[in-house]
Amino acid sequence: VTLTALEALATTRSVRRRLDLDRDVSPDLLVECVRVAQQAPSASNRQTFHFVLVTDTKQRAALGELFCRGLENYRHRPDGLYQTQRGSQEDDHRRQRIIASLEHLASHIDRVPVHVIPCVEGTLEPAALAQTSAMMGSVMPAAWSFALAARAQGLGTCWTTLHLQFPNEANAILGLPDDVLQVALLPTAHTIGTKFSPAHRRPLDDIVHWQRL
Ligand SMILES: Cc1cc2nc3c(=O)[nH]c(=O)nc-3n(C[C@H](O)[C@H](O)[C@H](O)COP(=O)(O)O)c2cc1C
Repeated sequence: VTLTALEALATTRSVRRRLDLDRDVSPDLLVECVRVAQQAPSASNRQTFHFVLVTDTKQRAALGELFCRGLENYRHRPDGLYQTQRGSQEDDHRRQRIIASLEHLASHIDRVPVHVIPCVEGTLEPAALAQTSAMMGSVMPAAWSFALAARAQGLGTCWTTLHLQFPNEANAILGLPDDVLQVALLPTAHTIGTKFSPAHRRPLDDIVHWQRL
């Protein structure tokens, strides 16, 4: 795939149905994506982020089980995709497509060749906005850079958080100490085809604000 930076930014989709479950991902390729992600900013340049690359079959099955349990809860959430009817017919069609895609991922997640878990040193204790933002800001940019680098290498990812409803179990699967937080699970695989397009988004005017919200 040859993409300009702006093309990569506009076409890094949540890939669920087009993850190639039958093709292994080389460890070198994954490490290369981490090498790029490592260039992301972090608070005080402390570089407190980590990437756990899970290829072990049993661990992927265990994480997959948490993901599916999380999805079961999510189905009942009033603000979730399953419960909210959105305005127009087109909006509702988009909602149904995401649900179908999510269901597909849930039923195949243990077969996705790599589960990438971005983590950060820290705990949820520092509730002050400045500290929480600094902590999360020290991993989210790197994690998204990983997704962008993966896209540039012909890999697909999907940002997911469902398994985090069970943080203790999730930490135990990965042998993480209590002072390290997982922030996402990115199922990662080669994509089936490499063409992805920009997605529909809400009107720009709704989110661009000059001077005041
Ligand atoms: C914080 C966050 C949590 C998400 N959690 C999940 C998830 O648990 N499962 C999933 O399949 N997708 C998840 N997504 C992906 C969104 O559904 C997706 O970004 C959205 O539908 C737009 O699709 P696109 O990324 O292809 O543009 C999450 C995205 C974000 C940013």
